[in-house]
Amino acid sequence: MNFKRLSKPKIPGLKRLKVKIPQLKIGDSVARVPIVQGGMGVGISLAGLASAVANEGGIGVIAANAIGMLEPDYYTNGKEANKRALRKQIKKARKLSDGIIGVNIMVAVNDFHDLLRVSIEEKVDMVFLGAGLPLKGIPVSELRQARVKVIPIVSSARAARLIFKYWQKNYDTIPDAVVVEGPKAGGHLGFKNTEINDPKYALDKILPDVVAEMETFEKQYDKQIPTIAAGGVFDGDDIYNYFKIGASGVQMATRFVATRECDADKKFKKAYIDCKKEDIVIIKSPVGLPGRAIQNSFLDEVESGERKVFRCPWRCLESCKAKNSQYCISAALDNARQGKLANGFVFAGANAYRIENIISVKRLFKQLDKEYFRRVEHGTVNLRSEFEESFKNLAALKNEYVRTVKKRVKTLKAELEKIFEKGTTTFREEYKSTMVRIDHLKEEYTRHLDKVSELREQLSKFFDTSTLKLPKAILDLQKRCAKLEFAEISNL
Ligand SMILES: Cc1cc2nc3c(=O)[nH]c(=O)nc-3n(C[C@H](O)[C@H](O)[C@H](O)COP(=O)(O)O)c2cc1C
Repeated sequence: MNFKRLSKPKIPGLKRLKVKIPQLKIGDSVARVPIVQGGMGVGISLAGLASAVANEGGIGVIAANAIGMLEPDYYTNGKEANKRALRKQIKKARKLSDGIIGVNIMVAVNDFHDLLRVSIEEKVDMVFLGAGLPLKGIPVSELRQARVKVIPIVSSARAARLIFKYWQKNYDTIPDAVVVEGPKAGGHLGFKNTEINDPKYALDKILPDVVAEMETFEKQYDKQIPTIAAGGVFDGDDIYNYFKIGASGVQMATRFVATRECDADKKFKKAYIDCKKEDIVIIKSPVGLPGRAIQNSFLDEVESGERKVFRCPWRCLESCKAKNSQYCISAALDNARQGKLANGFVFAGANAYRIENIISVKRLFKQLDKEYFRRVEHGTVNLRSEFEESFKNLAALKNEYVRTVKKRVKTLKAELEKIFEKGTTTFREEYKSTMVRIDHLKEEYTRHLDKVSELREQLSKFFDTSTLKLPKAILDLQKRCAKLEFAEISNL
């Protein structure tokens, strides 16, 4: 096919395409910016941080576990203190923002159901359920009635499947989205020690499996189930990369610690700024899970066998072996929250050492936005040129198709009328081969059209492609191609 002689087709809109950061839709909640601020206990993400994030168009999340430590009666009335403190923080966040507010609840805490009930009563937008699988006894109809979306946090496609299948079987519905948290996250990790640095379990390996798992449920329920990538998401480049392999949103926690609005003491935030890569370590938490934290004197003392004095009024964590524990994790984290680092320690993600200063949430969002836009521009250069190339081929095919069909078939038809009765074999052969060529062009054309549509689909993830329309002539031709039968051709 000689493309050279064909004039260069115009591609309307491609040059003007504007980068768009995709929204994150979870049921009827639509976040303008697809960033979830990861819940951080104890008391690190409260109303202050959550509302600031929600005001920037992201999803702000209050961490519920041991939140009652903010109240004076935690050691005498733990469960009530937790409920009261959570309710207060939700109400406060609602006052400070009309954006999307969620609550993070650890399934492993003993008052999980109480905290879930408060979230329902206060009609938060969504609950993020981690550190355990939300299977038995979930009050699904109440959650639905209060329009509280449910988002489990998992570390594998297997766990996601287990939860979704269980819900399907027992509740006749499925959760609304899923967070997949990789091994670079801060806090407790859903991986064995041996898996944490194994590339097989890296976020970019486990994320596509979870996305694929969700696709089967999306088909069955004919609704979108966004997969949100978490654990080590640090900048706009990361956001772009995880989106490219199927994420619909990201959950970030570590970055939000070093913000003015983060609810922890300045000393907690400063531990992030001051730490080096080698200070970020994996600890064995009394909960029985590995956790990622910043090494400090408290952790040194625990490692050297020291047993800290603590009270355990009501065994807040089901799996905590308080009697054999060297310290109470909730108390240690609460001390750290208050800046009492000698009596506690700081949970942090693997990338915490990269943070250089404390900025406002607004500035962080702007920064991430800028990095993301730059990465999209850079990353889609190939996609754009592939689109242009396919588009060019499409136009060339169109021209050749029109030429072949209109001119050749017309001449052949005229010749046919003259000589059909004599019907030379050569003529019949030529006629046949023209028809074969037309069929081939139709197939080629459809293939290219599919390719253009597919590329357009890919581009639309990163750009506003509403201005990118195929020219009417091509669309008309596409319609005609689809219908074109032998009879129509001979009628030309
Ligand atoms: C200080 C801190 C406290 C955390 N506390 C909780 C928690 O209470 N519940 C939970 O599900 N995840 C918790 N996480 C995990 C985060 O919500 C988040 O998923 C994870 O850290 C994301 O990785 P990133 O920190 O690299 O962005 C915590 C993380 C940090 C850094």
